[in-house]
Amino acid sequence: MSDGTFDKAFVGDLNRLFRWRRDVRRFSREPLEPHLLPEILEAAELSPSVGNSQPWRWVEVRTTSVRETVRDSFIRCNAEALNGYTGERAHLYSSLKLAGLDDAPVHLAVFCAPDAEQGHGLGRQTVPETLEYSVVTAITTMWLAARARGVGIGWVSILEPHAVTEALAVPATWKLVAYLCVGYPEHENDIPELERVGWQSRTESEKRHLIR
Ligand SMILES: Cc1cc2nc3c(=O)[nH]c(=O)nc-3n(C[C@H](O)[C@H](O)[C@H](O)COP(=O)(O)O)c2cc1C
Repeated sequence: MSDGTFDKAFVGDLNRLFRWRRDVRRFSREPLEPHLLPEILEAAELSPSVGNSQPWRWVEVRTTSVRETVRDSFIRCNAEALNGYTGERAHLYSSLKLAGLDDAPVHLAVFCAPDAEQGHGLGRQTVPETLEYSVVTAITTMWLAARARGVGIGWVSILEPHAVTEALAVPATWKLVAYLCVGYPEHENDIPELERVGWQSRTESEKRHLIR
């Protein structure tokens, strides 16, 4: 609807979108239709941010050598992470697929840029982290905007932020918030992959809802 109100059917569809959004690690190699990434980023730009600072910066990573640096970092960090587990957990961890770096047609590094002018410091004097939180809100919007268009996103955090930041030669003040794989998913599912493979299920939400 054009007037800012939303009917029940829309709310139902929106809930379906929330349920079917997935972190995707298995991508088709098919290139994204060219209009999709700009559309998805345009939606992400509508996200809330502290002081309306809009601190997100999107860096599309196309250079092969940079992608290789990221991949190498992932392989190193994933091997180290495996060393932190023992027994059955280690066995299970080693079977997980935790990144779609090889197949995803689009790689996006998402940074937080601490531009003092934007937002004029509102809200971040007391809680400076709100700048980075703002970038995460944009990533969530992007995740849903992508999913609504049949595009999957996979967040890769198992890497060394400094390796990615250096390889991309962005300003030294920018902080890496996320490295995202973007592309068409091989499969759709309404259950998180980590739940399906027995790593971690969704737990009862009552335990996380407190009233004081
Ligand atoms: C901050 C953040 C970092 C994440 N890092 C990784 C990662 O490095 N590798 C991975 O496979 N999934 C990663 N995920 C995805 C989570 O595993 C996933 O969101 C969770 O298992 C729930 O699944 P769903 O997103 O499909 O609902 C990350 C998610 C978030 C929010």
